[in-house]
Amino acid sequence: MIFVITITFSNMLHAQEKNYIGTQVCSTCHNDLSNHWSHTLHAKIFLNNPRNEIEARGCESCHGPGSQHLADPTVSESIIRFTSNSNSSVGVQNQACLQCHTGGDRMHWMSSVHESNDIACADCHNPMANYSTVNLLSKNNVNETCFTCHKEQRSQFNRRSHMPLNEGKISCTNCHNPHGSISDSLLIADTVNQTCFQCHAEKRGPFLFEHAPVTDSCVNCHEPHGSNHEKLLLTARPMLCQQCHTSIGHMNDLFTRGNLATGSRPDARLIGRSCQNCHSQIHGSNHPGGAKFQR
Ligand code: HEC
Ligand code: HEC
Ligand code: HEC
Ligand code: HEC
Ligand code: HEC
Ligand code: HEC
Ligand code: HEC
Ligand code: HEC
Ligand code: HEC
Ligand code: HEC
Repeated sequence: MIFVITITFSNMLHAQEKNYIGTQVCSTCHNDLSNHWSHTLHAKIFLNNPRNEIEARGCESCHGPGSQHLADPTVSESIIRFTSNSNSSVGVQNQACLQCHTGGDRMHWMSSVHESNDIACADCHNPMANYSTVNLLSKNNVNETCFTCHKEQRSQFNRRSHMPLNEGKISCTNCHNPHGSISDSLLIADTVNQTCFQCHAEKRGPFLFEHAPVTDSCVNCHEPHGSNHEKLLLTARPMLCQQCHTSIGHMNDLFTRGNLATGSRPDARLIGRSCQNCHSQIHGSNHPGGAKFQR
């Protein structure tokens, strides 16, 4: 009997129509939060200069109509919630943002790897206060926001050779669009190489003599997030080159301790820049005699 009553009661609640009650009513109970929110870009536009009906709803442009919540705030479904204990599905949460933010950088959000792994806008954004200087991120900068889930990249960027990300000169979004892209690994450009050429334009060529693996992809030899080998190399030279060049002759030789600079039979291929003591122009050559990348 009690069971039946409960069901009927909750059905009544759901049937009850939800109306908009206005930002000022929300603020009477959520005073501190409203205060922090009022300093954000959203608040400045929604409260002072709304461009349409949805923006003019203030708090309720994201959280949905609040009348049922006002009647009983403890009913979880009474309002759209974005926090981790939310009963609102990720789809419903994201739809609240996408009302106004489809297109642009989010052109490929749908079925992107983040969207299909049920990541919410609110996993990276916290619009309730200015935790970051721009972009309403949930942490104080882009990298910290990504590191909350991507621990492996955090440790890679702490390796001996790394691009200056921890130093604040570049960030994950110089290479990735977290909202989705048409290329693998959410890259902002069409290919790995196009991504790298943004900053390393001199590696683009054109070269009279191209080195096939360079034209193919920079990640054939480099680990973009960091490496303990010099210059972000995947492995030390000469092994790096010998992964591909093992047919015959001098590039195939197996080296021993004796071939080190301090050994009994020092070998140029093991000292200093190894194979590149002679093949120095490894990214390509424009010299008429540069077919073997020696100049
Ligand atoms: C009568 C006071 C009152 C008013 C008015 C009110 N709230 Fe609430 N709200 C509460 C209380 C109390 C809770 C905590 C309920 C709980 O613990 O489940 C809450 C919870 C919430 C939550 C969930 C927080 C979380 O943990 O995710 C959101 C979102 C929220 N309110 C938004 C609003 C919005 C938007 C408005 C205006 C439309 C509003 N509230 C108006 C009292 C109020
Ligand atoms: C631009 C969309 C947006 C607007 C506008 C907005 N919120 Fe939120 N709100 C969010 C998101 C997203 C979160 C989840 C933040 C997080 O990850 O903790 C949130 C969280 C909350 C919470 C729970 C946070 C906590 O720390 O307990 C409450 C309560 C809340 N909002 C109330 C309000 C009120 C009141 C207003 C208006 C003064 C408002 N919101 C305006 C998107 C919005
Ligand atoms: C009613 C429309 C509307 C809704 C809903 C909305 N936004 Fe916005 N948002 C705007 C407007 C307007 C701006 C100002 C910049 C612009 O014109 O694009 C903005 C700006 C932003 C910015 C950039 C802030 C900056 O510092 O430049 C972020 C990030 C953002 N919104 C995230 C969100 C997220 C996350 C949600 C959902 C929780 C959301 N928005 C919901 C309208 C909306
Ligand atoms: C995986 C993390 C992540 C997720 C998920 C995410 N964002 Fe972002 N968003 C960012 C970062 C980082 C930036 C700053 C971009 C930059 O540095 O150029 C940003 C910037 C923005 C901006 C301002 C700049 C612009 O592109 O116009 C808006 C608006 C925005 N996001 C909306 C959204 C919405 C809506 C969703 C959900 C559909 C969402 N974001 C999901 C990380 C995320
Ligand atoms: C809330 C957790 C979370 C946050 C925060 C987050 N990601 Fe992700 N990310 C994931 C998950 C889950 C996947 C898919 C599974 C995997 O590959 O680990 C993923 C995958 C990726 C991929 C691989 C895409 C592919 O096709 O293999 C890239 C690149 C990426 N994220 C970049 C970012 C960047 C940049 C940020 C910060 C702006 C970020 N992520 C923030 C959870 C997150
Ligand atoms: C200099 C460019 C660049 C920067 C900066 C960068 N990435 Fe990447 N990232 C790449 C490339 C290129 C790939 C693809 C690697 C491949 O195809 O093997 C990639 C792949 C990934 C992947 C997929 C798994 C993997 O390792 O292949 C994740 C996750 C990821 N990046 C997260 C991040 C995060 C988080 C940050 C910021 C802390 C970041 N990246 C910064 C270039 C970059
Ligand atoms: C947003 C700009 C930017 C992008 C994109 C970028 N780099 Fe860099 N890269 C840098 C900067 C800055 C340095 C440090 C230069 C210095 O110290 O003189 C650097 C250094 C390097 C180094 C030398 C590291 C060392 O230990 O000396 C390598 C190798 C490298 N990048 C490879 C790549 C590859 C591969 C890609 C594409 C996946 C890429 N970069 C994309 C900015 C970028
Ligand atoms: C066949 C392997 C290989 C490939 C593929 C490769 N590199 Fe390199 N790269 C190297 C080696 C080896 C070094 C160290 C050079 C030295 O010590 O002279 C290096 C050094 C660098 C450096 C730092 C020193 C310098 O010359 O400026 C940058 C930046 C760089 N590579 C970018 C790239 C980019 C961008 C791509 C893709 C277009 C790429 N590399 C593809 C092997 C490669
Ligand atoms: C991912 C595989 C790969 C790696 C790693 C690699 N190469 Fe190559 N290399 C090639 C391919 C493929 C060619 C083109 C062979 C051809 O045209 O017959 C080539 C061509 C060359 C040539 C010209 C050969 C000729 O017959 O004209 C030289 C010299 C060379 N590589 C040296 C190096 C050195 C030194 C390294 C290490 C820094 C290296 N390569 C790393 C795949 C690789
Ligand atoms: C002491 C200088 C020197 C060093 C060190 C060196 N090479 Fe060479 N390499 C040459 C010369 C000279 C040629 C022949 C050039 C020609 O025929 O024009 C050559 C040719 C090549 C060729 C083209 C195929 C062939 O046999 O003609 C490849 C591939 C090559 N080297 C790879 C390597 C690799 C890999 C290493 C490191 C293990 C290496 N080289 C170290 C001098 C060197």
